[in-house]
Amino acid sequence: MNLRDAATAVRENAHAPYSNFKVGAAIRAASGTIYVGCNVENVAYPEGTCAEAGAIAAMVAAGETRLEAAYVIADCPAPIPPCGGCRQKLAEFGGADAHVTLATTDGTERETTIGDLLPGAFGADHMERS
Ligand code: THU
Repeated sequence: MNLRDAATAVRENAHAPYSNFKVGAAIRAASGTIYVGCNVENVAYPEGTCAEAGAIAAMVAAGETRLEAAYVIADCPAPIPPCGGCRQKLAEFGGADAHVTLATTDGTERETTIGDLLPGAFGADHMERS
């Protein structure tokens, strides 16, 4: 299965009764394995989690920490821009050149990279004093 098919399929499992906005995410790790996630909302609204976070959690739980590419899809007018927190989460595991495809369910895609999504990213090197 490719990233688009995987993200499209897992989006159907999103638990989004409060926003009615289902999101699917698929990431390919260094091994070539694809991990998927969907948004999971909660009646205590701030407790919900994003699709990207779910896919990343699945990757890490499987013992992988290197993200090579990501695909995010939702039913929106323009390809879904990942939220700020998810941009930082993607940057934790993927390099600035890692490929990200943002998509609508209508078939419109925007190709970008983690570096473009999070310019000037906060990284581990910013916590070091020389
Ligand atoms: N959402 C995601 O899953 N990923 C994003 O990057 C943007 C927002 C979810 C969170 C919430 O369940 C719903 O979309 C509406 O914000």
